[in-house]
Amino acid sequence: MKDQQHQPRDLDGNPVTPGLPMAMLAEVTHRCPLACPYCSNPVELTRAAQELTADDWGRVFRQAADLGVLQVHVSGGEPGARRDLAQIVTHARDARLYVNLITSGIGITRERLEELDRAGVDHVQLSLQGIRPDMADRISGHPGSWDKKMAFAAWVQEIGFPLTINAVVHRQNLERLPEMIALAEQLGARRIEVATVQFHGWADLNRKALMPTREQAAFARQVVNDARIRLRGRMVIDYVPADHHAVYPKACMGGWGSTGLNVAPDGTVLPCHAAQSIPWMRFENVRDTPLGEIWHGSDSFNAFRGTGWMPEPCQSCARKTVDFGGCRCQAMALAGDARATDPVCSLSPFHAQVVARAEDDARADTADLVYRRMRKGE
Ligand code: SF4
Ligand code: FES
Repeated sequence: MKDQQHQPRDLDGNPVTPGLPMAMLAEVTHRCPLACPYCSNPVELTRAAQELTADDWGRVFRQAADLGVLQVHVSGGEPGARRDLAQIVTHARDARLYVNLITSGIGITRERLEELDRAGVDHVQLSLQGIRPDMADRISGHPGSWDKKMAFAAWVQEIGFPLTINAVVHRQNLERLPEMIALAEQLGARRIEVATVQFHGWADLNRKALMPTREQAAFARQVVNDARIRLRGRMVIDYVPADHHAVYPKACMGGWGSTGLNVAPDGTVLPCHAAQSIPWMRFENVRDTPLGEIWHGSDSFNAFRGTGWMPEPCQSCARKTVDFGGCRCQAMALAGDARATDPVCSLSPFHAQVVARAEDDARADTADLVYRRMRKGE
């Protein structure tokens, strides 16, 4: 940890100027009744005994609000697996944060949802694994999940929460994207996030079963463009494209350490959900260090701030302040170097290799899934 009085510097020693975070992802637990094979949680999951208490979260929320955070996404795992979820939400509300509950809808009864409403949840984000029971239950690894989700969605409507549907798409369900958008409309959603699987962690173990084809990526782009026109003024569509088939990478996290931060169940503070896949990076914990110090002064948050650290071709590229060189974790996974240009970029020296592997995975004749699970005894 660098002294906060000192000028923060990136990993090459270039001075950087941290901005203010607007949103915080609070992963209150890694426990989850579902077993989605593309889960964004790390492959090494945190056990219940290591989780922050509700009062710890209260302290973190107050520090986040002091730092400038306006919105907290209460997520997991499944946040409903925490019996003290209403207490956690009350703490977030007391810190004057806007509270978005990100949930699978499994394990939260109508009574609990009403309790969460009273505690201060402002908005609900519900994940969808498919548009029919067979697909939803198979992808989530949880028989009966579809019926429970649909009941939960009805309660959300009845109580009157604003709703976002989170539809994760991949080779096994992309053809059904128009129906997913229609279902979100039917459920009264104001927004749908269509997010193509990002191949980190668990999803990386399932590349051969989930990698979309180039044709599917083009189809999804067209469906989203058409739906945006049709639904203008009624429902917002956010779209995370299949970047293995794109020309330029996404601006992951809107730029490292620029507007958001994640707090893991054990209090580890991360610049993004997959940052622990960068093996040499060390992360601070809110149990030991205040959030503001971590945001402004930690080596992990400062490592890739600004543009000074970027290698070529990013350093002399006009898009370096648009996509920030892409995703650091994807660079780690695909190029073996977190500092490298994101290899999904067509200007990366690794691009041809990455595309060839993606095309190969997309052609694989398998639908078999490796499900997310805790290790025995956890
Ligand atoms: Fe983005 Fe770097 Fe590719 Fe330019 S070279 S488009 S900055 S990833
Ligand atoms: Fe870590 Fe993109 S997921 S920077």
